[in-house]
Amino acid sequence: MSPQRSPSFLAEHVERLSRIHLRDLLKDTERGDRLRYRVGPVLLDLSRQKIDGLAWKALGEHVEASDWQGARDAMFSGAPINTSENRAVLHTALRASGSRLPSPAPREVLQEVEETLQRIERLIQAIERGEAASMGLPTTITDVVNIGIGGSDLGPRLAVRALTPFHVPNLRSHFLTNVDGQAAHELMRQLDPSRTLVIVVSKTFTTQETLLNGNVMRDWIMRSYDGDPRAAARHFLAVSANTAEAERWGVPTAHIYPMWDFVGGRFSMWSAVGLSLALAIGMEHFRSLLAGAARIDDHFRSAPWHENLPVVLSLVEFWNRNGMGTTSRAVVPYADLLSDLTSYLQQLEMESLGKQVTPAGEPVAQSTSPVVWGSVGTNAQHAYFQSLHQGTDVVPLEFIGVVRPAHPLRSNHDALLSNLLAQAAALALGKTFDEALEESPAGDDQARRVLAAQRTFPGDRPSTVMLLDSLAPESLGALIALYEHKVFMLGHLWGINAFDQWGVELGKSIARQIMPALDGSSDDLSAFDSGTRALIEVIRER
Ligand code: F6P
Repeated sequence: MSPQRSPSFLAEHVERLSRIHLRDLLKDTERGDRLRYRVGPVLLDLSRQKIDGLAWKALGEHVEASDWQGARDAMFSGAPINTSENRAVLHTALRASGSRLPSPAPREVLQEVEETLQRIERLIQAIERGEAASMGLPTTITDVVNIGIGGSDLGPRLAVRALTPFHVPNLRSHFLTNVDGQAAHELMRQLDPSRTLVIVVSKTFTTQETLLNGNVMRDWIMRSYDGDPRAAARHFLAVSANTAEAERWGVPTAHIYPMWDFVGGRFSMWSAVGLSLALAIGMEHFRSLLAGAARIDDHFRSAPWHENLPVVLSLVEFWNRNGMGTTSRAVVPYADLLSDLTSYLQQLEMESLGKQVTPAGEPVAQSTSPVVWGSVGTNAQHAYFQSLHQGTDVVPLEFIGVVRPAHPLRSNHDALLSNLLAQAAALALGKTFDEALEESPAGDDQARRVLAAQRTFPGDRPSTVMLLDSLAPESLGALIALYEHKVFMLGHLWGINAFDQWGVELGKSIARQIMPALDGSSDDLSAFDSGTRALIEVIRER
């Protein structure tokens, strides 16, 4: 059972605020000014969070007493803060070239990162100029397939889609991730193997799903060259920290781009893991994405807690989770181009923060990661918003909007943003029974009251609004870096290691044991529990 204890200093504030409706908090006309923040292209509005000055002060004292600056500086300088794996956590070094502040990361790390960026740039230029063959690649490339899963898929996938208006011409991007063969099958029907470049992205180069899909694509390309493996190898690049395994698998050494142990998969889109993204948007835009993230890095390193966006975002989550006791958070981008943001954040936040012991192996003192879920608005309004407005559970929301769209359809965009603003307002304000009664059609008093009860909205439901000036490489980089540092801060506040993921291992090893029972190479089911045995038998019979 996960603990449901909350830090005791929150109790008096929760008690006081339980007697104040958000509607009343919002009567303070200066509240918006106090709880609205901006860094570059990102505006953060916390005015509809159920928090007041006293609670905010207590949270500030809590974070200030925690030496969060010391923890932050240890991360930026490359201390081995991922203690269970004895690794540094240096995704910020990947974008240090865009920072104004000098990077405290080890010099050799910065150098390797820059060399890799330059290799990526040379590759992009060669493809752009039609000189890919000089780099051992096919002469013409029209389609790029990124094979990877988790952090080797979600970041590039999110950004490639989000930055559609920035795509270079004549190059299509595809993402092959799940081990379900359906996706690979459809992709192969659609693409011309002779013009396809496959990037196998796997930090470990041992991930079952990625290697299976890699094998499928390699066989497909090889068939088009009458089984010649050397010809097929021209179509493959790899990104991995395990160069030896990538080579053994058949990727030419010159086609392997590095990943490093000091970068976690879910923080890796800024590295060569973002190769498919860099190919899709070009190097200049890829560098702008890094610069957008670096701007948030500089801000995180220099702003005091009460102006520091990652810090205040983490405090709001701490408050909702550990003070208000909420168990999930819905992320609702009002932008189709951000349709992959929620799944990206599910990995970033839940793989990082879904922990129940401290680095010393002791139980944590309070609940950790809430469930992160959601999907794009306005569609979400026509699916689960009913429950968010009138259901019994309170779910804090995060609305994300883009002020200037990349298309000319002004009235669509006005409708989109007005819905975003309306939902945040409706959730906070609600509608009282008396207001609902007033709206009920004239008639029998009892019937009017019954109807009004059903048309009453409790309100008092917290939300955050984030607005990007536009959806561009800089603002996307800033948005993602903001979430990364929020995750860092929550790991710090909750006393957990946000950078390992042992919880994923158990299922992986059981799947490896089950595989021989399904492919017929073993009949021995004695190692499995009765439920698993029965299902294996059903699958085998069919
Ligand atoms: O899901 C577990 C995980 O280890 C993630 O942390 C990682 O992003 C993903 O698998 C893919 O791993 P790899 O890049 O090694 O293939």
